[in-house]
Amino acid sequence: MKKSVVILAIETSCDETAAAVLEIKPSPQPSPRGRGSKTVLPQIKTLSSVVKSQISIHKSFGGVVPEAAARAHVKNILPVVKKALADSDIADFDGRQNQQSTNLNSIDFIAVTAGPGLIPSLIVGVEFAKALSLATVKPIIPVNHMLGHLYSPFKTLTPNPSPKGRGEQKIFPMISLIVSGGHTILTLMKNIDDYKVLGQTVDDAAGEAFDKVAKMLNLPYPGGPEVSRLAEKSKSPVQFPRPMINSKNYDFSFSGLKTAVLYYLRDTVGEGLKPSPTKTKNICAGFQQAAVDVLVTKTLRAVKEYGAKSVSLSGGVAANKALRDALNLKSKIFNLKFFVPPQNLCTDNAEMIGIAACFMLHNGFKPVSYKKVKANSNLEL
Ligand code: KG4
Ligand code: ZN
Repeated sequence: MKKSVVILAIETSCDETAAAVLEIKPSPQPSPRGRGSKTVLPQIKTLSSVVKSQISIHKSFGGVVPEAAARAHVKNILPVVKKALADSDIADFDGRQNQQSTNLNSIDFIAVTAGPGLIPSLIVGVEFAKALSLATVKPIIPVNHMLGHLYSPFKTLTPNPSPKGRGEQKIFPMISLIVSGGHTILTLMKNIDDYKVLGQTVDDAAGEAFDKVAKMLNLPYPGGPEVSRLAEKSKSPVQFPRPMINSKNYDFSFSGLKTAVLYYLRDTVGEGLKPSPTKTKNICAGFQQAAVDVLVTKTLRAVKEYGAKSVSLSGGVAANKALRDALNLKSKIFNLKFFVPPQNLCTDNAEMIGIAACFMLHNGFKPVSYKKVKANSNLEL
């Protein structure tokens, strides 16, 4: 990639309608590949990012209702994209001083989440992007939502990977933990353009387990942040098992942990009965500790096995303070660089889709015709 480009990014994979405008230009800085490499990392500037949440719609159902989510996306997509364009300002970047805000003419590519996710939701974003592409003749960058999470911590990687300002800091190999509502994936990144999945959940995703435990405890949707908030107030966490913590592979299982919470509730409170506020906090803290323990232990085992120089954490559950703190602490102890996005880039947003699109371009991806783009609910990383 030689010249600066502007990307309009669209995300509708679940229950957030989001759009963002990003500008990317190749950085003159050296890459973290190691000495002698000619690769330059892109410099990414977020010009705007708009997220319209559907929490108020799904709250009364205790979870996302796919058809209701799709209907809300249909209603929100145009105003959200219009707002992202209106909010963006490229006046001081790369000599386009005369413009007040980005318009469709200043966009080079349209990035859109193609999957994985809820198919009725994905279709809204993908078909909107295709229609826009047809009307404006701007090609599309179809983005895997999980790639959005994977690359979301790396905006801070650019433009200068060396905090000391001298030489290059070696950050690869890197172990990347992606924890969201639908996925729990541990990957080995040998380089910015070279990753492989080491393991994933064999049943529930980490975020899904947080949400289901919250539901058992009659906590409001979305459950993850609520479990996390109450856990912080506990003085005596309940001890729960740590499924697959000692298994030889890098897979995870959270369904057993969720069932352990269910049995604990049945045995100490009674089926269908509500635990006291103190017990609720202690259950939240015990569950969270067990989940964090498994995630951190397996991440560090992979660090050791692959001689990793750094760790990254992303996905909605990366907003969890206990998990962020635990991985940050371990990274300090083992002298690893730790990458985690700010909380607003952890839960679903279009900025991360734009960031992933930037790295895809950087890694050599060629944007495609709208005719080649299709929503795929099971798209794999
Ligand atoms: O990445 P994300 O926004 O959507 C998916 O791609 O699935 O992740 C949403 C998940 C939900 O399960 C939500 O409960 C969880 O992230 N989550 C949290 C926290 N904030 C969001 N889980 C634990 N602690 C949090 N603070
Ligand atoms: Zn997500």
